[in-house]
Amino acid sequence: MRCRLTLITTLLLSLAVAPAGRAAAHTKHQAICPGALWYDTQGHLIEAHGGCIVKHGNEYYLFGEDHSRRNQPDRRYIACYRSTDLIHWHYCRAVVELKNPDPALFTQDWILERPKVLYNRFTHRYIMYAHIDGRGYSLARVAVFSSRTIAGHYRLLRSFRPLGHQSRDIGMYQARNGKAYLLFEDRPSGFRIAELSQNYLSIKKNICLIHHHLEGLGLVHYHGLYYIIGSHLTGYAPNADVYATARSLQGPWSRFRNIAPPQTKTYKSQSGFLLKIVGTRRTTVIYLGDRWMMHRLWNSRYIWMPLQIGGGTLRLPKPRCWRINIHTGVVSFVP
Ligand code: DGJ
Repeated sequence: MRCRLTLITTLLLSLAVAPAGRAAAHTKHQAICPGALWYDTQGHLIEAHGGCIVKHGNEYYLFGEDHSRRNQPDRRYIACYRSTDLIHWHYCRAVVELKNPDPALFTQDWILERPKVLYNRFTHRYIMYAHIDGRGYSLARVAVFSSRTIAGHYRLLRSFRPLGHQSRDIGMYQARNGKAYLLFEDRPSGFRIAELSQNYLSIKKNICLIHHHLEGLGLVHYHGLYYIIGSHLTGYAPNADVYATARSLQGPWSRFRNIAPPQTKTYKSQSGFLLKIVGTRRTTVIYLGDRWMMHRLWNSRYIWMPLQIGGGTLRLPKPRCWRINIHTGVVSFVP
């Protein structure tokens, strides 16, 4: 009897502390642990898949696909979080919470994927591009959104095929002179780099067509060289991601090489974004990848790791826990 009572008391106690335990989980994050459950500062799982990070003042803003189970099925959500250390993320809001913008064009199973945000210094607007699609991924368009503030409401302006080409997974790159570029997978040919207009709302011109079928594209400029990464086209299943380098965005691009031992399938992840942190002591480039859970997208995990990069080579080390001193750019690994 006493045993039963103890059991019931323990059960009740554990039920009572469960929410507090989850809410407190965030305080336990002392490092970025690739592949682990990752909670925001309110104790909810971080939902920002296939996304990007933008620096604004002393803060970093993370945007990504929000696949939470509490979402309304007819809407598509892009979430925004902010952080000062890349470990503790505060949920700002759903910056996009969109109903099917054109039911005549997009079918019920329409998608909004891989949001990328840039600040336009000429128009003082934040511009988001994302892959919008329907009819079994056959529309292959980009959607363009705009907001006055970084974590504000992003209003859909239009959707189109860049320069008339198919566009599925996208990436973006902003040069120091304020010019911006869209990277997009153009299924029949490979992938393209195109320059955006000065207000970032349309495409100005094609820069380069690379005859290599890649998606999950990311680009960084590091010590005089452009490094581009991408994955092969295997849906949500991971494969051996590759990279190439060039002195100019127009190319010529080097041959593509694996970023990790191919049998690891990029440590079960897919590339999505490259974040450059310029510190007082080091410049660190971070790989932001997704470990997708195809039938439970909300439970997909993040594989973020500092890259070994330089001299024309790029290597994704075996994932382990780490943190970065945002001011110096120095990374330390946590046992
Ligand atoms: C692979 C892409 O990288 C993802 O963004 C998503 O579109 C899946 N394909 C869908 O299968």
